[in-house]
Amino acid sequence: MPEAVKTSHRSGPLEVTNPERIPAKRYYDEEFYRLEGENLWPHVWQMACRLEQIPNVGDWVEYSNLGKSVIVVRAKDGVKAYHNACRHRGVPLAEGHGNCKGQGFICPFHGWRWNMEGENTFVYGRHMFSEEQLDKRDLALRTCRVETWGGCAFINFDNEAPSLRDSIGPVADRIEAHGMGKLRSEWWYATVLPANWKLAMEAFMEGYHVMRTHPQLQQAAPMLYNSMYGMDTGGIGVPIDPNLDTKGNIKAQIKHLELLSQGMAGMVHAKEVEIARQLADVDLPEGDPQQAIMMWFGMLNHQIGEQLRARGEAVPDLNAVAVSDPIHAVEFIFPHYFLLPMFSSMSSYRIRPLGPESCLFELWSLTHVAEGEAHEPPVEPTILPYDSDQFPAIPRQDYANIPIQQKGLHAEGFDFMRLSKDVEGLISNYNRIIDGYLKGVPAEKLAVANQKLGGNFDGKILDLGF
Ligand code: FES
Ligand SMILES: [Fe+2]
Repeated sequence: MPEAVKTSHRSGPLEVTNPERIPAKRYYDEEFYRLEGENLWPHVWQMACRLEQIPNVGDWVEYSNLGKSVIVVRAKDGVKAYHNACRHRGVPLAEGHGNCKGQGFICPFHGWRWNMEGENTFVYGRHMFSEEQLDKRDLALRTCRVETWGGCAFINFDNEAPSLRDSIGPVADRIEAHGMGKLRSEWWYATVLPANWKLAMEAFMEGYHVMRTHPQLQQAAPMLYNSMYGMDTGGIGVPIDPNLDTKGNIKAQIKHLELLSQGMAGMVHAKEVEIARQLADVDLPEGDPQQAIMMWFGMLNHQIGEQLRARGEAVPDLNAVAVSDPIHAVEFIFPHYFLLPMFSSMSSYRIRPLGPESCLFELWSLTHVAEGEAHEPPVEPTILPYDSDQFPAIPRQDYANIPIQQKGLHAEGFDFMRLSKDVEGLISNYNRIIDGYLKGVPAEKLAVANQKLGGNFDGKILDLGF
C-alpha cells in the first residue's frame, strides 16, 4: 500500500491513549469499524478452516470475512487459496464446501472453469474474445497467501505481511507441543452475537469474570479463584483450601474439572474427567496439601497420557510438555482465534465481524481420536441462537453478558472501560495492537507486539514497543 494512503488513516479520537482506559465508541462507531476493515483485517492472518474439513485432494471450503471471500483447496501439492471471483465478470465461483476434483470450479454465470491449481480449463465461446483477454496467466485464479499450522489453514490478504509463524511467535510451538495439530473436531457450533467482534474476544481475556459469570466454577474450587483474584483463603497463589484435607482438596479439583468438562467439552474432555475420578482416592502425603495437589495433577497428567495412548491416541507426555512448553488457560492468535487447552484436548473459538455491533462466533471441541478409528468431523457448524440451551454452560454464561455489555457501552456518560492493570492487561494490549494497524505501524513491529499476546491471558499491560 502506498505510504500516503497508509498514514492517512488514524484511529484518531478513539485511539487508546491511557492504556487502562478503552474508549467505548471503539465498539460501535461506524468509522472505526470501517478503519478496521481497511487497515487491520487485510493485513492479519485469519483462521480460514480446519484442515480436516479438506482431507482429500480436491476438497475445498469457502472462507469469507467482511465481504472478501477466499476458496481454500487441498490441491495435489498442498493447500492453496484463491480469491473467490470468476476472471470473466467477477461472480464468486464457490460457496460453502465441496470437492472440485472432477469438474473443477464452474462459474454459475457463463460456465467458465478452473482446476484445483487455479488454471483456467474452459472458456465458453472462446473465439468471441480477443486473444488479449484470454492470456493464460491472467485467467488463472488470483492466489491468496495461505499457511497451515495447528491443524488449520490461515490466510492473509497482505503479501508483505510477516509469515504466520513470525506473527504469532513462540505460542505456536508451545501449543503444537501439546498436540494441537493432531486434534480432531468433535462438534462445531456457531451463533450470531449482537456485539462488536472485539467485545466478544475480550470476554475470554481474563479469568476475573469467573466469580460472577461462572459461579459454579468458583463454588467448586473457591481457593483457586480467590487466590488469583479475590480475598485470600490460604496465602497468595495457594490454590488449595486450608479447611480441607488432601482428599477434600482432590475432590474439589475433580468437581471443578467435571464442571469445566460439562461446561465446554474439549477444554477438559469427559474421558479425562473419568481418569481424574479414578484418582480420587490415591494416597498422597498429608501435611502439605499444596504439594499433594501438585503431585496429584502430575499423576493425572501421567494417567491421561498413558491411558489415552493405550487406546491409540497420539497424546504427548503431558508432564514433559507442562515443563518444556507451559501454556495458559487461554491462548490467543491475533486477531480473532483462540484456544483453551488444559490436558490432551482443547476448545477453540473464532470470531468474525458482521457489522459494528454484530459478530459470528464459532466454537469447536477438539480432541484426539485413536489412530485408525473412523471419525467424521462436522463439515458445517450447527447454528444456534446465542441464548440456546444447547450451548454448553460456560459459553452460554458468557453469551448472557456480551450482548448486554454491548448495550451498556451506549449509555450516556459511559466514555471508556476501566481495566485492571494486573489481570485485564491483555484487553489493553490487544486494543493497542489494533491501533498499531490503524496507524500504520510497520509490520515487523506489529509482529513483535503480536508475539507478546501469547501467554498474556490474565496478564499485565505491556510495553508494545510503539
Ligand atoms: S462471470 Fe463467470 S463465466 Fe462469466
Ligand atoms: Fe467466561
